Amino acid sequence: MDQHPAYKAELDFTEILRTPHRLFGYTYLYFLAVLAVIGILYVNNLNPVGNNRVLPVILKDSSAFVREIPYQSPGVLPPVDVRAASVPTEAMLTRGREVYRANCASCHGDNGQGDGAAGLVLNPKPRNFHSAEGWTNGAKISQIYRTLQDGIVRNGMASYAYLPPSDRFALLHLIRKFNPVPPMDSEQELMELETVYQLSKGSVIAAQIPIREAERRILAEHSGDVIAVTQRYTRLEGSDDPGAVLFARVTENPERTLTALQSASSRVGTLDDFIRFVTPDPVQLGFRASVNQLDRDKWETLYQFVRRTML
Ligand code: HEC
Repeated sequence: MDQHPAYKAELDFTEILRTPHRLFGYTYLYFLAVLAVIGILYVNNLNPVGNNRVLPVILKDSSAFVREIPYQSPGVLPPVDVRAASVPTEAMLTRGREVYRANCASCHGDNGQGDGAAGLVLNPKPRNFHSAEGWTNGAKISQIYRTLQDGIVRNGMASYAYLPPSDRFALLHLIRKFNPVPPMDSEQELMELETVYQLSKGSVIAAQIPIREAERRILAEHSGDVIAVTQRYTRLEGSDDPGAVLFARVTENPERTLTALQSASSRVGTLDDFIRFVTPDPVQLGFRASVNQLDRDKWETLYQFVRRTML
């Protein structure tokens, strides 16, 4: 019988692994180089997020944003006769257009189609007043009045209770003009409006001033103290006093910090009071958020410095 020679694999894979150039010659180096180039190109073209090249954004303290309120003189608003006010006049519509443009058009659109820029992000969308369908409270006089009084806050429609009742009637007539067939109130519904809101009695409105103005006045009343504190601070600023150096490092707005601490000086009688006062909202007090990372010795240094600067 023919003795087959011992079977020998045509390719010995373990051999190839040990000396790959025997199979590929040195072309595999070439492929490696191509891969490396592709890799470099890929990494260089990553979008800024993937690339981690986005500059850190300074976080703004949202509690620092205040919704401004207008000046309002105190007064008694004239009584409104619901029955008379429920019939639109040209004067009312003209007034309505003015108030609408100032307060409502941003969301409800210039022509009441619910397409104002500020409303684009809202869900549900601001009401399209031309459509008779889908109203939450409804398009009757009494229903719109209620919407303006209470708002539909859960859906992004604020209360406009601060508008005088006469302006609210002007607005609701304007809005109802957009509606081809505005639904009518029954006599009883109009009378309920009177019963609930006591419109024939007139209403008292309290005086109000804008928040910024109030802040300015409070500061002005304490300006003597503030000037004294700021002067003391200016003397210490830039000195190599360790307290002054630390204070400069942990404050964003030293003047604000000193003013705030000065007006709260009775509440920061001890080191612990001081820490408790500052840590919940350092940024609002003019500190940097990093102040919360100080160890107790540093807090002590800071506290002593503040005490020396205060009156
Ligand atoms: C911040 C945006 C915004 C502003 C400003 C705004 N609205 Fe609205 N309004 C809405 C949204 C959102 C709705 C929808 C609420 C819903 O579907 O329940 C709405 C709904 C309404 C409705 C319909 C209520 C119902 O029964 O469905 C009336 C009426 C209305 N607004 C009147 C006004 C008037 C008048 C002004 C100005 C004084 C005004 N809105 C200002 C967002 C706004």
